[in-house]
Amino acid sequence: MSNNADARAQWKTRSGFILAALGAAIGLGNIWRFSYVVGDNGGGAFLVLYFATIALVGLPLLLVELAVGRATQREAASAFRQLGRAAPWRSAGVLGVVVSFVILTYYAVIAGWALKFFAAFASGGYPFAAGEAAAYFRAFTAAAIEPVIWQACIIVATVGIVTGGIERGIERANKILMPALAVIVVGLAIHSLTLPNAGRGLAFLFAPSWEALAQPRVYLAALGQAFFSLGLAMGVLVTYGSYLPQHHRLPIAGVIIAFGDTLFAIVAAIVIFPAVFSFGMSPDQGPGLAFITLPEIFARMAGGQIVGVAFFGLLVLAAITSSVALLEIPVAYAIERWGMSRGSAALAIAAAAFVLGVPSSLGFGPLSQVLLAGLPILDAVDFAASNVILPLSGLAIALFAGWHWRRADALAAIGFRDPRVAQLWRISVRYVAPAMIAIVFLRSLSLI
Ligand code: TRP
Repeated sequence: MSNNADARAQWKTRSGFILAALGAAIGLGNIWRFSYVVGDNGGGAFLVLYFATIALVGLPLLLVELAVGRATQREAASAFRQLGRAAPWRSAGVLGVVVSFVILTYYAVIAGWALKFFAAFASGGYPFAAGEAAAYFRAFTAAAIEPVIWQACIIVATVGIVTGGIERGIERANKILMPALAVIVVGLAIHSLTLPNAGRGLAFLFAPSWEALAQPRVYLAALGQAFFSLGLAMGVLVTYGSYLPQHHRLPIAGVIIAFGDTLFAIVAAIVIFPAVFSFGMSPDQGPGLAFITLPEIFARMAGGQIVGVAFFGLLVLAAITSSVALLEIPVAYAIERWGMSRGSAALAIAAAAFVLGVPSSLGFGPLSQVLLAGLPILDAVDFAASNVILPLSGLAIALFAGWHWRRADALAAIGFRDPRVAQLWRISVRYVAPAMIAIVFLRSLSLI
C-alpha cells in the first residue's frame, strides 16, 4: 500500500458520507434510464418487481459492499483481494473498477446531452415550435463535434471535484448539490401533478398491468436497473465505505441510501409520466423519452422554458454527482495501487474515459453505421455493462458474502444489532440473491 495520506482520507461527517453515497446512486439512472425502463416494461407491475429486487437483492448487497470497504479501509480491488482467498472473489473488485470506468465513458456523453439541453432551454434557443423535438435531438447527436464538446465539459467538472479530494471535493460538492436536487425534483413533481389528466400518468405508474410479468426480459430489466441505480457491483460503495471510520454503523446508512435512491426515482417518474400522458404522448419510446418526448412537451407547455431549464438542470447535477463517483473508483485504485497522486490520477483517467467515450457519442452521427449486436455503440456498451457484466460481478459478490466470508466476520463488519435481521441478510446473500441473479441472467440469454 502506498503511504499517500490521501488514500486513507475520510469523510468529515456521517451525513456527508450518506449524501455522497446518495449522490453516486442518484443520477441519470434515476431520471433518464428509470423512466424509459418503466415505460418500456409496462409501468406499475415493473415498479412492484423493482421494489422487490431492491429489498431482496439490492440492499443486502449494498451492505456487503459498504462493509467490505469499511472493514478493509482499501479501494475496491484491494479490498476484495484482501478478503477473498480464491480467484473468483479476488476478481470481483477489479471487475468493478473496470466497469465503473467503462460506464463513465458513455455516462459523460449522455450527461453532455443534458447540459446541451439545459443551455438550449436557458438561452431560449430550443425550438419552441411543436413537432421539432425528434429532429432537433437527431441533428444534435448526429453532429461530430458539438456533443463531444459538451461531453468534455462534464469531464472537466468531474475532474475538478475529484481532484479536490474526499472531504473538500466530493463531500462538499454533494452537500451543496444533493439538497438542490431534492428541491428541484419536488418542485417539478408538484408542477406535473397540476397538469390536466395527470392522473392517467399516475395510473400507468402505479396501477400494475400484471401481464408484463410473464416476460422474462422484464425481470432482467428490473435487476439491471436496480444494480445500475444503486451503483452495485462497481466498487463505489466499497470505495466510499473505505473512507468511513470503523465506529459508524452501516445498516441504517444502507437503508437510507437504498430507500433514498428509490424514492428519488419515483418522484422523478411523477415528474415525467403525468406530463407524458397529459400531452397524449407514448411512454414507451425508449431512451428518447427524456430527450425527445419531454422537450417536445416543454415546448408546448405554458411556462415550458422554465420547466425545461429546471428539468435539464436537475439531470446535469444528478449526473455530475454520479460521474464524480464513477471517476473516484478508478482514481482510488490508481492512488493506492500505482502510487499516483490524486491530481494526476484524476486527470489521466478522466482523459482516457473522455477519449474512449467519443465513439459512443459518434455512434449517433458519423459512426451510425457501426452497430454492435444491432445496437448503436452507446447502447451496446450500456447493455453489456448493465445487463451482462453487472449481474456477473453481483453474483460473485453475493457468493463471496454468503459462502466465502466467515459468518462472524461478515456480521461483525456490517454491525447488525438484531440477530433476526442478520439472519434475513444471510438468507438473502446465500440463497435469494444468487438464485435470482443466476435465474434471471440465464433466462434472459435463453439458456434455461
Ligand atoms: N447510479 C448511477 C445512476 O443512477 C449510475 C451509476 C452506475 C454509478 N454505477 C455507478 C454511479 C457507480 C457511481 C458509481 O445514474
